[in-house]
Amino acid sequence: MAHKILPWLMLLLTQLLLLTVEIDAKVPAVIVFGDSSVDTGNNNKIQTVLKSNFKPYGRDFEGGKATGRFCNGRVPGDFISEAFGCRPLVPAYLDPSYSINDFATGVCFASAGTGYDNATSEVLSVIPLWKELEYYKEYQKKLKASMGDEKANEIIHEGLYLMSLGTNDFLENYYSTFSSRSSKYTVEQYEDFLAGIAGNFITELYGLGARKISLGGLVPMGCLPLERTRNLFTGSGCNEDHNKVARDFNVKLSVLTAKLNKELPGIKLVLSNPYDIFLDIVQKPSQYGFESSAVACCATGMFEMGYLCDQYNPFTCKDANKYVFWDSFHPTEKTNSIVADHIVKTCLAEFL
Ligand SMILES: *[C@@H]1O[C@H](CO)[C@@H](O)[C@H](O)[C@H]1NC(C)=O
Repeated sequence: MAHKILPWLMLLLTQLLLLTVEIDAKVPAVIVFGDSSVDTGNNNKIQTVLKSNFKPYGRDFEGGKATGRFCNGRVPGDFISEAFGCRPLVPAYLDPSYSINDFATGVCFASAGTGYDNATSEVLSVIPLWKELEYYKEYQKKLKASMGDEKANEIIHEGLYLMSLGTNDFLENYYSTFSSRSSKYTVEQYEDFLAGIAGNFITELYGLGARKISLGGLVPMGCLPLERTRNLFTGSGCNEDHNKVARDFNVKLSVLTAKLNKELPGIKLVLSNPYDIFLDIVQKPSQYGFESSAVACCATGMFEMGYLCDQYNPFTCKDANKYVFWDSFHPTEKTNSIVADHIVKTCLAEFL
């Protein structure tokens, strides 16, 4: 008799466990703002050349689908959402295949190519940060209309908000040849200008009801393959000046975080600083199971991203898990997973 009941018991137990896992979400929703580091497909729906909804992007994603994530697979917001017991894929707000009911457990407003500075989003005609916030306000209205004020307010107050942007303000804007920003501001002044915008954004988000907020720091951006390629004639190492800018900016974000935690009652703002773990991966790739951190998987790995990273390029690597970078500007899914896991266990641990 026992041998007949046992399998059923096991099945029941497994299902109960699965059920608990589902109910056991640590936050009702993960809500994402930012740039290509976390965009899950919003740029598919706007007029810009900065897209990634074609092969080989998404090569290692569920069904090999190119969703508009700038990666071979998932991006950090997806991994963080999953770690908090929410959905393993955070849907893009502009994707018409999702409804407000889907967005109630997670939504992404990020747009590849954007930055804190309005001028940054203009470079490639992408969604400026202020517009991401306008979409968020619209989201709140739809949420309230769909599930009532009480349930909507719970999602708004208890949800985990992720912000991940800033790299483009420096690399696409300040340090680009045609930028007017570098004649107007020293880099320190520009860092202050951006941190000021970040502060205003967080204060507005707080005013709209958000409490648990993760402000993302910069990675060592001077080590992105594109930056190394620009250094080709001096040995193709990391651009140490740009790494210093990232570190300095992160210090400013850290000061801002402490200040806002004092000023805004009930806010729980944390700085999710990926700099050290990311640099460690770049400097010691083999310790993390990678073979290369200097060049990316896609195409020659030196400068291609977006449309230049196309499926007919014969140089694209076979196994992206051996590479820290997927294209010249973006990490592989494996790197995203390691960095997100680290951030969840350190910076975001208080929300778990
Ligand atoms: C960015 O543009 C928006 C919309 O025009 C404006 O409200 C905002 O003040 C601008 N931000 C800065 C820092 O200039």
